[in-house]
Amino acid sequence: MATEQISATDEAAVRRRAEGRAAARPSASGGSTPTAPSVTSLLDATTARLRSMHKSQVHRAPWPEPSSFDASAYPAALRRSAAVQWAGRARNEHGSVHQFSQLLHTFTRARVPVHIMGALSRLITDEVRHAELCAAAALALHPEGEGTEAFRFPLPGAPWQPPPAPEPDGSAEAIYRWAADVIITACCIGETLSRPMLTAVETVATDPYIEGVAAQILRDEHLHATFGWEALAWLVPRLDEDSKAWVKAQLPRRFAGFERSTARGVRVEHIAEQGITIEPGDPASPNLGTLSKPQYAVIYFATFEAEILPKLQELGFDAGWAWGARLPLLDG
Ligand SMILES: [Fe+2]
Ligand SMILES: [Fe+2]
Repeated sequence: MATEQISATDEAAVRRRAEGRAAARPSASGGSTPTAPSVTSLLDATTARLRSMHKSQVHRAPWPEPSSFDASAYPAALRRSAAVQWAGRARNEHGSVHQFSQLLHTFTRARVPVHIMGALSRLITDEVRHAELCAAAALALHPEGEGTEAFRFPLPGAPWQPPPAPEPDGSAEAIYRWAADVIITACCIGETLSRPMLTAVETVATDPYIEGVAAQILRDEHLHATFGWEALAWLVPRLDEDSKAWVKAQLPRRFAGFERSTARGVRVEHIAEQGITIEPGDPASPNLGTLSKPQYAVIYFATFEAEILPKLQELGFDAGWAWGARLPLLDG
């Protein structure tokens, strides 16, 4: 099989870099107890064989090589502000591993068909790849960021309740209802938004390493959104009327949650007035993969209007009602 051979020299160099970073992290007490971990701890060395297994499963050509990034070509402030966004993306991608693995674990208890488990397994390994790419980009851009707030790495979480167990009679209704809400949130909304976000990052970036990172992530995201819509289409006919009503009732706060974190206070009427666009980056004004607040907002509103709301409506959820009902929740 395609097990990659890693030379002892290569492996030793990787291990030294990772161990060197871990040793350089400050400790809370000044002794050997580490502080809250840095998101770059995702890149720490383990063993040569684990690294080989990971790479053959997760890396794909052309893999963007962090050492190809020339930090000396950019001002430190530009590198730092971009690294903050890449570290945030690494936390989000790691959060996707956390959330999708919870969904997969729960689906096994509902004994769903292998098509669902196999497709969802692909998403999990993709998100591991994305977490690695984003953490490596943050570190390449701003190696001074280790041990600082910019690279913080809190425990991952999820905006939904813990999954239910199967019901005593063996029915999977409670799990299906929970899973429909999770899939709408993480895939139908989250992954559908990821695709145009990454397209925009690739468009504005002026550095070939950063463009390569965005391109690697982007090649997976269309599949992730498709998984969400297909899995939801499979689930909906399996939900009873009470469950459908419960899932619909969650929509306004799911919409409001994404609007708070993505549009971040920019309202749809501001976007219409300002005519915000996303243009290819100009090397005379370097961009290391950052988007402005209005650019994030324009992607959010355009994708909801063109894709998310119509598809939810097609699947029988009253998305128009939910869009209106999100408004009172935005400031809460
Ligand atoms: Fe991702
Ligand atoms: Fe994804």
